[in-house]
Amino acid sequence: MISATLSAPINTALRRVPSWAVYLAGLIPLAWVVWLTLTGGIGVDPVKAIEHRLGKIALWFLIGGLAITPARRFLGINLIKYRRAIGLLAFFYVALHLIAWVVLDMGMLWAQAAADLIKRPYLFFGITAFVLLIPLAVTSNNASIRKLGKNWRRIHMLVYPAVALGVIHYLWQMKVISSEGWLWLGVFIALMAIRFRSFRW
Ligand code: HEM
Repeated sequence: MISATLSAPINTALRRVPSWAVYLAGLIPLAWVVWLTLTGGIGVDPVKAIEHRLGKIALWFLIGGLAITPARRFLGINLIKYRRAIGLLAFFYVALHLIAWVVLDMGMLWAQAAADLIKRPYLFFGITAFVLLIPLAVTSNNASIRKLGKNWRRIHMLVYPAVALGVIHYLWQMKVISSEGWLWLGVFIALMAIRFRSFRW
């Protein structure tokens, strides 16, 4: 854990930040994508670029969500209050990424979408990850936590296979895994190793 002299003022400052500010800040990347699209700065292939940017933002939030518990345990920085916001933002961006594929890329042509799924099997991994995240998003409210009790924690363990599938999907869609790809994989494995170790503890 970093020294309390460092983490205490960070936690004091964080306590003043309401969750709604995190939701609002989480929409900035979307505003940036919209801005680039409207101003023509998104690139020569806007559909691909929108799709890729939304996927990458989703990955930031998913990995960011997984980093919250280790951040508290090892750095003493308490972001638990924002876990729901970060998780829901992750789901929101995965959903937008999926919508971008269905609407912009496939033009809502279902036969074409089916053919694309067969051509690019890594899309199945992305879709499975999305499906696994649905129960998490649906039960991310106080009423569900109360109603589900212990089962709530069990359901939310689905986040680990969901992010694993998301990472595999991301790496697989590259022709050759880039250094950035290896970095994301490394961060994911490190977070999982920390988590696994703490379970054993
Ligand atoms: C947890 C779920 C998911 C995550 C984390 C994720 C993440 C990503 C990332 C990071 C990229 C590459 C971005 C880049 O290189 O800059 C990508 C590409 C892509 N994803 Fe996903 N994705 C997920 C689910 C989905 C779903 C449900 C679909 C819909 C079928 C999908 C369709 C695509 C497509 C079409 C590409 C572009 C592939 C290409 O250009 O060949 N993804 N995704």
